[in-house]
Amino acid sequence: MKDAIERLEALGRESLKGGGEARLEAQRGRGKLTGRERLDLLLDDDSFVELDRFVTHRSTDFDLADRKILGDGVITGYGTIRGQLVYVFSQDFTVFGGSLGEAHAEKIVKIQDMALRNGAPVIGLNDSGGARIQEGVVALGGYADIFLRNTLASGVIPQISVVLGPCAGGAVYSPAITDLVYMVRGTSFMFVTGPDVVKTVTHEEIDKEGLGGADVHAETSGVAHFAHDDEVQSLAAVRELFRYIPPNNTARPPPGSGTDPPDRRSEKLAGLIPERPNRPYDMSVVMREVLDDGVLYEVHAGFARNLVTGFAHLGGHSVGIVANQPAVLAGVLDIDASVKGARFVRFCDAFNIPLVVFEDVPGFLPGVGQEHGGIIRHGAKLLYAFCEATVPKVTVVTRKAYGGAYDVMNSKHVRGDVNLGWPTAEIAVMGPRGAVEILFRKEIAAAADPDAAIEARMAEYREKFAHPYVAAGRGYLDDVIDPRDTRPRLISALDMLADKRDANPPKKHGNVPL
Ligand code: HXC
Repeated sequence: MKDAIERLEALGRESLKGGGEARLEAQRGRGKLTGRERLDLLLDDDSFVELDRFVTHRSTDFDLADRKILGDGVITGYGTIRGQLVYVFSQDFTVFGGSLGEAHAEKIVKIQDMALRNGAPVIGLNDSGGARIQEGVVALGGYADIFLRNTLASGVIPQISVVLGPCAGGAVYSPAITDLVYMVRGTSFMFVTGPDVVKTVTHEEIDKEGLGGADVHAETSGVAHFAHDDEVQSLAAVRELFRYIPPNNTARPPPGSGTDPPDRRSEKLAGLIPERPNRPYDMSVVMREVLDDGVLYEVHAGFARNLVTGFAHLGGHSVGIVANQPAVLAGVLDIDASVKGARFVRFCDAFNIPLVVFEDVPGFLPGVGQEHGGIIRHGAKLLYAFCEATVPKVTVVTRKAYGGAYDVMNSKHVRGDVNLGWPTAEIAVMGPRGAVEILFRKEIAAAADPDAAIEARMAEYREKFAHPYVAAGRGYLDDVIDPRDTRPRLISALDMLADKRDANPPKKHGNVPL
């Protein structure tokens, strides 16, 4: 018995060594943590339970036959974050460059299957040279096994990817299917083909950071939802996320502390909207004043900044915020904002997180680039997402709600549950100048003073449409509220909707415009 236990202890020590001290040092030298250090930071203290530490590869090709390393380059298991069960895998770059072979893939697949069966999130810490070259098609098959499970688990359990090193070739498609992607500046890269291949094929010269670094993906491509300066910040941000999201699609999200008084009014909001309708203001001020403790966990903060998305608590309810940002591009909806918003709305709907919309939108962005880029197809995604969502849906129109964007942004017509307007809300087919120039083109052309004619007609138009009372008169707005009461009124709506039940017609699945 004693010998058996000693053997177990020796193997246990062996399994902690990864690719050996020299490679662990090289890993640290790159400014990266080791796979185990990352799990220590991610999970609650002493909560990690490792599985499959004795697994090794079965390959006999090239140099692998006599190089078996316990764990096969990925540390897998379960633990807790803020007390909530999560399943994790953490690729170990010090073992064959974290490359994925048959056994490595089987370990990840086991975690995915357990997570799906037990209704808990999966968090993948990615740091890998991709498919293990020596294992050939078996490695490719291993990736496909993972992709399949990513897809089957989508909308059932939250799936989080943290990219902390290379993630190249087909390997990018696992994070791409997951719900949220975190990256670190300077050390994590995602690309389908790296700089060398790009140079050969397109003659473009670019380095790894420029091609697929954290900022590129968080600001330009939208592949990443978060970019941080180091791994410690990135892993801390994942822990924060668990304040807001539930373990699976049948559970409610966790409540906030509820210490911020629900009846707190905000004097600041009474004077926020500028007198002139084209002057910008910062929608963040509204959110800071209204949300519990003024805290928004912003998602996709660097991408399509004309639309703000994020998680928050409101009266203790976990909510998903979607807000037009008048301070960026006047809060217009463009292709990127539509795609960003649609994916966020669908995440919230899948995971029972009520939606709260702050609306000030002049419409969809005009332009050849947008039309040829498919604003029709992409804008339809956001519309579709709000239409199909059955979670509690609440909207506040602070200023403009023009054109198709009025319909899209969680209007009453697409099953908005509670739709409120500030007295400054303007709900119309378009802004006054555009409308007048179309309706009174001939009159303006014939006028002795065209500018005066336009001004007179615009005043008339404003009187008719630039207010919330036509919409409120029809019941499209449930009420027009004093902006200072926004927080109490939203909390009251969320309390009232807490047990909402709604469903879509039975179907295999919808055909969201992709
Ligand atoms: C086997 C690999 C490997 C791989 C790296 N290593 N990638 N072993 N298969 N794919 C090994 C190296 O041999 C080396 O072993 C150790 O990992 C560290 O690699 P280095 O090259 O020394 O490190 P670095 O200079 O930091 O470069 C890291 C790297 C580079 C950028 C990831 O290794 C690289 O380009 N690797 C190949 C990437 C790739 O093309 N993968 C396939 C993508 S296609 P030693 O023993 O010396 O420490 C793909 C398809 C997915 O993944 C399938 C989906 C459909």
